[in-house]
Amino acid sequence: MREDKREGIVEESKVFKPGAEFKARALVREEKVYEEAARDRIGFWGQAAERLDWFKPWDKVLEWDPPFAQWYVGGKLNASYNCLDRHLTSWRRNKAAIIFEGEYGDSRVLTYQDLYREVNQFANVLKSLGVNKGDRVTIYLPMIPEAAIAMLACARIGAPHSVVFGGFSAEALRDRLIDAKAKVLITSDGSFRRGSVVPLKENADSALAGSDSVEHVVVVQRTGTEVNMKEGRDLWYHEQMQKAALECQAEEMDAEDMLFILYTSGTTGKPKGVVHTTGGYMVGVSTTHEWIFDLKEEDVYWCTADVGWITGHSYIVYGPLANGATVLMYEGTPDYPAKDRFWEIIEKYRVTILYTAPTAIRTFMKWGPSYPESHDLSSLRLLGSVGEPINPEAWMWYYKHIGQERCPIVDTWWQTETGMIMMTPLPALTALKPGSCTVPFPGVKVEVVDHDGRPVAKGSDGYLVVREPWPAMLRTVYGDQNRYVNTYWSNWPGIYFTGDGARWDEDGYFWVLGRVDDVINVSGHRIGTAEVESALVDHPSVAEAACIGKSHEVKGQAVAAFVTLKEGVDVGNGLMDELKAHVAKKIGALARPDDIFFTPELPKTRSGKIMRRLLRDIAEGRALGDTTTLADASVVQALRDK
Ligand code: WT7
Repeated sequence: MREDKREGIVEESKVFKPGAEFKARALVREEKVYEEAARDRIGFWGQAAERLDWFKPWDKVLEWDPPFAQWYVGGKLNASYNCLDRHLTSWRRNKAAIIFEGEYGDSRVLTYQDLYREVNQFANVLKSLGVNKGDRVTIYLPMIPEAAIAMLACARIGAPHSVVFGGFSAEALRDRLIDAKAKVLITSDGSFRRGSVVPLKENADSALAGSDSVEHVVVVQRTGTEVNMKEGRDLWYHEQMQKAALECQAEEMDAEDMLFILYTSGTTGKPKGVVHTTGGYMVGVSTTHEWIFDLKEEDVYWCTADVGWITGHSYIVYGPLANGATVLMYEGTPDYPAKDRFWEIIEKYRVTILYTAPTAIRTFMKWGPSYPESHDLSSLRLLGSVGEPINPEAWMWYYKHIGQERCPIVDTWWQTETGMIMMTPLPALTALKPGSCTVPFPGVKVEVVDHDGRPVAKGSDGYLVVREPWPAMLRTVYGDQNRYVNTYWSNWPGIYFTGDGARWDEDGYFWVLGRVDDVINVSGHRIGTAEVESALVDHPSVAEAACIGKSHEVKGQAVAAFVTLKEGVDVGNGLMDELKAHVAKKIGALARPDDIFFTPELPKTRSGKIMRRLLRDIAEGRALGDTTTLADASVVQALRDK
């Protein structure tokens, strides 16, 4: 055993228990939090809400008219006020809020005071452009501090933001601009990616060609790339900031006022605008962030997600900043300029908490342990995982090579829709089983149920549901209340269906098995099969397409597509690559199929439904399941012979 090894965790026959030393210093170390919260859930969340600063306290913790919830009814607050203003009255004013590491090694530190100033000024810029409470603002930026500044500035004036991941295509951006009817778009000249420049402004310009709600575009200068600035519409961020007043009063928002929209994929071709509101969301993300990551004032907390995903919203921006944490923000990829970039950053800033995804961990495994070994990682004390089930091998590798057998790992299960982490260990209380996200967070009621919505017995599989409303739950799908009801609440009335399958083991631990709907999880990000299919069918050569998820060593799942071409079209040279590129252009590189199988026909049931299960078996090279409902058996034989 190494001399400096702190007793963070102890292994006991494949179960990892919190070590005495970690426990002694931990924030939450009393088992009774679980029982107390279970006994009085509403009381638990009522008490949790006291951690925030409210302009006016709530009259009632929960109003539940299934499937519509209102949390902290009558309460008034502002999310940006809770992330900034309230830290300025203490020593935290001069604490680092964001430590930014740029892709090419530039760095910037913003204290809470600095961040407050920038957010206030930018809120004034937005106001000067006519953005009022309730107007939507779309943000299409790289991982730079301005992304957080823009989000908080929107929150400050009560304008819901819609952040679109910078890796999404112009067309994906356009669809989201149109759906949200955004008044202002915030983007940058470009974004750095492995030393080259992604032309974000150019993408934005083509997206804007198809949407007419956007009145102004604010452009952050990041790469120095030359861009077109449309007179009267486009404005430089730095020029506007120079003119902006330093103070902007935080708008008094109702607890149930919309904080943001975030688009996520579902089972149809059209992404859903998941709506989150202010009070419940802020209570949920700040409580979970503090308890699960055992947050201490001196921590340097690094979540490697992009702000374009829910993880970035909840656990880079709103949760950590509401808690007065120091957040590290990194612009680039793990392999630029070299494969040790993450470990170099951890050593440079003495990062204490690392929150990343299984796909990243599997990539590091593939590269081998020499990269982390060449850096001092002794500052790390807690590790987190999110995005997809973590396979036990990756868990062990993370534990051993990154956590150096010292750090507990919190495997956190949640979704864009849940807003906050729902299942997770509490690091000083929960024994860890590699591959399991363990148990629900206190005050959260998750179950595995059968077809009829009845809880399964221990040791069984079923559908993963949430039985009771929780504060950070989505409130609706933007502009489509029916879709909200049908997607999440129609299987079993009053019960939220997650779309995941899971096992509830003999000890009452949860093992998420993956999606049971037509959604693929690529590198921890959701891709709807229907979206990829409609992108393919959009190509002039394609008659019909069906997509499925195929297991992939690093990405977890990859997209595989089965394509039927139009009469007379020849596969020829290059059509395969052309179709892959077409999908990347329509949606983004993330959705690009790894494999395309050309077939004269798709296997369908007699009622015309594509048999995806069969396609999955074919793509994985497995023995075929039941084919008795197939309309034309020869189709499958032909596909298999490929
Ligand atoms: C889906 C949600 C939550 C932020 C990242 C993804 C899968 C997520 C885990 C985990 C097993 C997980 C589920 C879920 N998932 N975390 N720890 N263990 N599966 O957010 O894009 O909304 O996707 O990701 O399938 O339903 P998202």
